[in-house]
Amino acid sequence: MKISIIGSGYVGLVTGACLAEIGHSVTCMDINKKRIINLKKGILPIFEPQLENLVLKNIKNKNLNFTHTYTSITEQTIFFICVDTPNNNQNRPDLKNLFSVISSLGDIIKKDSVVVLKSTVPLGTNQEVHKRLVKKISKKKLKITVVSNPEFLREGSAVNDFMRPERIIIGTDSVKARDILKSIYKPLCRKSDKIIYMSTNSAELTKYSANAFLATKISFVNEIAEIAELVGADMHEVRKGIGSDSRIGKDFLYAGLGYGGSCFPKDLKALSYFQKVNGLKSSIILATQERNHHNVSSFVKKINLSFKEPKATSLLVWGSSFKPDTDDIRESLAIEVIKSLSKKFKKIYVYDPEASKNTREFFHDFTNVAFVKNKYNQISNCAGLVICTEWKEFWNPDYKKLSFLKERIILDGRNILNRQDVEKNNFIYKGIGT
Ligand SMILES: NC(=O)c1ccc[n+]([C@@H]2O[C@H](COP(=O)([O-])OP(=O)(O)OC[C@H]3O[C@@H](n4cnc5c(N)ncnc54)[C@H](O)[C@@H]3O)[C@@H](O)[C@H]2O)c1
Repeated sequence: MKISIIGSGYVGLVTGACLAEIGHSVTCMDINKKRIINLKKGILPIFEPQLENLVLKNIKNKNLNFTHTYTSITEQTIFFICVDTPNNNQNRPDLKNLFSVISSLGDIIKKDSVVVLKSTVPLGTNQEVHKRLVKKISKKKLKITVVSNPEFLREGSAVNDFMRPERIIIGTDSVKARDILKSIYKPLCRKSDKIIYMSTNSAELTKYSANAFLATKISFVNEIAEIAELVGADMHEVRKGIGSDSRIGKDFLYAGLGYGGSCFPKDLKALSYFQKVNGLKSSIILATQERNHHNVSSFVKKINLSFKEPKATSLLVWGSSFKPDTDDIRESLAIEVIKSLSKKFKKIYVYDPEASKNTREFFHDFTNVAFVKNKYNQISNCAGLVICTEWKEFWNPDYKKLSFLKERIILDGRNILNRQDVEKNNFIYKGIGT
């Protein structure tokens, strides 16, 4: 099928490349002209495992092409919208990009079309989009169906998540649109039918509640971790103990700094904003967010208390991306930690395998935050190591190289090191709830 993807960022580019890979003829559109010029040359704007290969392969076999103009997609009839929907400063989702797309589509659509919303949007937005589109094209006498198809991919494993989804949510009442989406996703449903059909409102709420539930699980575990530290329990053991109960499940039970990224924080804020303006009580969702903020301050406090003279002390930080295998630092708790440490310590040296460029831009005006190309650089100038992101390359450090740390203190914000190993090598180890 011929498909247009509008917005070629983390979600749009992965969606476009994966749909091309499963045989569709895909045009990725983005208003960012520089991004499109680079993509045409095979230069990707983001780091995501497996994505580059997929993009290059499908450019070559002509399943995937790029454009920065709406006029180039005017003959198309299936549009996947993947633009960003950030929150404004009142925590209200800002839909200006989405509505700008709708207005542009209204101008160029020539045939009956299906508009699929992959962007995460507030409750009721699909209906609003439909209303706006119908109004915009009222003179053209065309039939437009708006489908809610929220995306669940995770940065760092986005290609795999897209290609092997646990479920595909399709929110629409239109049988014809259901059939079109079913046939688009058919290659991903060979083993079992992953599609769950529902109304657009239910699909929107499914996306928000999935993110809120997962974030709540993380905050819950971090609250328990604080108790574990007080009583001398170990969250590695507690995790196994509670995770073996199938009602609880094994995933998302890792104590650590907490959640970040462009989705969980934004979506929880949007959900509690929705509750507030509609006079509903927000307790769990607010508490989840409070706990997540608290994690950073308590970790920074722990780091401060570990060194006698912070103002005369430099630290090495490993990891600045919000999670491993991505260059994305949006709402990264590692960034929050580095920011706080830079106010209290002499100098902070940061290493990240992929997010250095974004991090460097973020800390442009910070005179005491510097970047190292190798994770052991500057080690002899630092008193301790702080781990903020669980990149695989941090899991088995070279303790001989780390022994140049002046005070041999390791603060593990992701609980990835084994306390016995660290202590055996004569370091002081401080994790979270362990
Ligand atoms: N990133 C994730 O892991 C993830 C996962 C699931 C859902 N989502 C949701 O998907 C949506 C997109 O997220 P993202 O991380 O891909 O965002 P992004 O910022 O990486 O990409 C958005 C792209 O849209 C483009 N754009 C903005 N306005 C446009 C317009 N009028 N016309 C054409 N292009 C336009 C931007 O130039 C940018 O390239 C958001 O709603 C997000 O909440 C994201």
